[in-house]
Amino acid sequence: MSETDVVILGAGAAGLMAAGECARRGRRVTVLDHAARPGEKIRISGGGRCNFTNRELSRQNAAERFLSENPRFALSALSRFTPADFLARIERAGIAWHEKTAGQLFCDGKATQVVEMLLAGLGPAELRLGTAVEAVRRTGEGFVVDTSDGPLRAGRVIVATGGKSIPKMGATGIGHRIAESFGLRVTETRPGLVPLTFAAQDLEKTAPLAGIAVAGRASAGRTGFDEAVLFTHRGLSGPAILQVSNYWREGEAIVVDLAPGRDIAAALAAMRAEAGRVALHNALARLLPEKLAAFAVAEAGLAGRLADHGNRALERLAAQVHRWQVRPVGSEGYRTAEVTLGGVATEALDAKTMEARNVPGLYFIGEAVDVTGWLGGYNFQWAWSSGWAAGQVA
Ligand code: FDA
Repeated sequence: MSETDVVILGAGAAGLMAAGECARRGRRVTVLDHAARPGEKIRISGGGRCNFTNRELSRQNAAERFLSENPRFALSALSRFTPADFLARIERAGIAWHEKTAGQLFCDGKATQVVEMLLAGLGPAELRLGTAVEAVRRTGEGFVVDTSDGPLRAGRVIVATGGKSIPKMGATGIGHRIAESFGLRVTETRPGLVPLTFAAQDLEKTAPLAGIAVAGRASAGRTGFDEAVLFTHRGLSGPAILQVSNYWREGEAIVVDLAPGRDIAAALAAMRAEAGRVALHNALARLLPEKLAAFAVAEAGLAGRLADHGNRALERLAAQVHRWQVRPVGSEGYRTAEVTLGGVATEALDAKTMEARNVPGLYFIGEAVDVTGWLGGYNFQWAWSSGWAAGQVA
């Protein structure tokens, strides 16, 4: 049976970061992944340009921007290996980058540059692809990892197998099963950063809007996001909806403002004074995409000309635009979800090292853990920070 100091399960963002750090400390490292290529999610992320971190992340806002049963758990790792630290590596590797909205940093070129940078950082660490991890067992002082290529013995094991999102890309959720096999609790898991779907009766009305995108504001409960909202053939998508999907629970309604920052009632009243003969939906179409205007007028139960309606009716229409309430029936699920909410319960782990408190030598990092960030580079930053933290000690 081959033997090494540290076995890392998963050659994704977190696993590659941890492997580089362990190797730098002179540890003998083997990284296992069942995929044919490492870092596949990095490659497709950010539309192929990898939104690799977010420079707005700070100690003050981190607990708000990461979801977890214990949102403060992530603070230690995030403040020890920061967005600035990762950016410094990007710059050292000569990777050109740019900032989009809200602190989001992207590569100017291909996301594969980030994978290449991480692979270069592996040094002498061994990368075994096409090797599926089946289970991890404790033996004496160390562990045995059962794989499709036979067992492997190691003193330390870092579980970096991600969550359940996009099984087609290799997600298996095995990290959660490994945790449970050692008696660690796994919190409820569900798809996150995911498009929401509508019931047939709502779809009948919104399906003709498929393809329309507006700068909107979507809210679930008290949490709202000002970003693009996109109508799809199955419901709603776009960054504002993906963000809000993390906070939405089945059975609840979301509220969408289709024209944030504008006063639709006042704008219509002003138009009425000058062009009262215009059909109501045509008047609204001067402020919103035409089909969306017709939809809002119909939903408000109105018709006819602008001049036919008093201020109360215009306010009803404006409420339809600014506070459209819709109750999604579900989400597109793990098939398209960017992340998995929930995972290995944080109380089982040491926040500084990611080591399981009751299983010395076993570590959990990245998406496998119950830490999920907002859209915008936060999830990769968690992968880098938690991978770095484990990589200092394993
Ligand atoms: P990750 O999923 O990256 O790696 C896990 C590895 O484990 C995989 O290589 C997998 O093959 C392997 N594995 C699983 N089961 C195994 C088994 N049984 N045996 C062997 N190997 C196994 N985030 C962000 O911050 N900015 C962005 O731009 C994007 N964009 C984006 C786009 C899309 C389409 C998706 C799906 C996701 C994003 N994300 C993102 C989220 C980001 O990709 C995610 O948070 C990180 O990849 C998580 O890193 P991990 O290393 O934890 O898991």
